[in-house]
Amino acid sequence: MKAVPIAISSRRPPAPSMPTTGPLIDVFGRVHTDLRISVTDRCNLRCVYCMPEEGVTWVPRSEILTFEEIERIASVAHDLGVDSLRLTGGEPLVRASITDLVARLGRIGFSDLSMTTNGSGLARLAPALAAAGLMRVNISCDSLKPERFAGIRRRGVLATVLEAMDAAEQAGLTPLKINVVVMAGVNDDEIVDLAGFARDTGRVVRFIEFMPLDAGEAWERSKVVPGEEILARISNVWPLEPASERAVDAAPADRYRFVDGCGEIGVITSVTRAFCGSCNRLRLTADGAIRNCLFANGEHPVRDVLRSGGSDADLALLLRQAVWAKRAGHGINDPSFLRPARSMSMIGG
Ligand code: 5AD
Ligand code: SF4
Repeated sequence: MKAVPIAISSRRPPAPSMPTTGPLIDVFGRVHTDLRISVTDRCNLRCVYCMPEEGVTWVPRSEILTFEEIERIASVAHDLGVDSLRLTGGEPLVRASITDLVARLGRIGFSDLSMTTNGSGLARLAPALAAAGLMRVNISCDSLKPERFAGIRRRGVLATVLEAMDAAEQAGLTPLKINVVVMAGVNDDEIVDLAGFARDTGRVVRFIEFMPLDAGEAWERSKVVPGEEILARISNVWPLEPASERAVDAAPADRYRFVDGCGEIGVITSVTRAFCGSCNRLRLTADGAIRNCLFANGEHPVRDVLRSGGSDADLALLLRQAVWAKRAGHGINDPSFLRPARSMSMIGG
């Protein structure tokens, strides 16, 4: 008997139905344990890779989630297995009484509670944040040259951010990570200097590929310096070896240590080598929408549930649905890729 050819379809098999108990899982089996909460869309800086220089329209205050609302979602997420929480913005430290929010979230009992900040207000607030329960911070610093730093961040002062790094360490907000967005022809000539900074200070410098999330829409592929090239340039001077394994590590950064034992760096290859397969992250925007991906074009409006008297079970269901709707990957490299309508400061890194 002649064998009947089996049609091999590239489409995935019919999805099982969404579980209503257990961890936050998506159709592809990715378990979500990391929530990033943007506490404000406002920022005191205007980094070229994020915001326009002028004419930003802020979300009206009435649309921004209150501390009570944020706390409630965080607590429901915690019940669903989220154990790592990161506060982002805009710039989280421009939100009034942010330490009160940290204290509320600290009491929920996350195993990791961190913040991404531009550092400009941190030197003053670091001790209070640590006392409120913040465990560690990531500080953005894209250049070690004061003038260039000011040009990239448009309003930032390098010395202030370097002071913030010291203050964060003194307050115990460690391990301290430094975020560098690498842009070809802008700051890529400092890759080796910034790796040297990691070696000198023991801070983990993380080189991030420039992503199409800038409000000015100036992103071009030619401005992306591939992670592989970043590593090659550093290893030429100081050899590196892998310190993490993507298969077991959901963090977006691939970590490398210097072979001579003097510190560690990270590379975040969102564009050239996506890490969607191990993604465990979920985002809450300042105005109360759940996004299942930085690059998602759809959102799940949790604020409506909160403000129409929804129960914790309703919130949990919405979180589950948001995760269940997650696509396999961001598709930046697909011809049909559409930039999300929101830029980074609106979504929250
Ligand atoms: N591409 C890559 N990283 C970005 N960030 C902001 N905008 C971009 C972009 N277009 C990073 C910055 C900031 C964090 C919140 O997100 O490093 O620290
Ligand atoms: Fe502000 Fe951060 Fe955006 Fe820079 S990257 S403009 S500091 S929100």
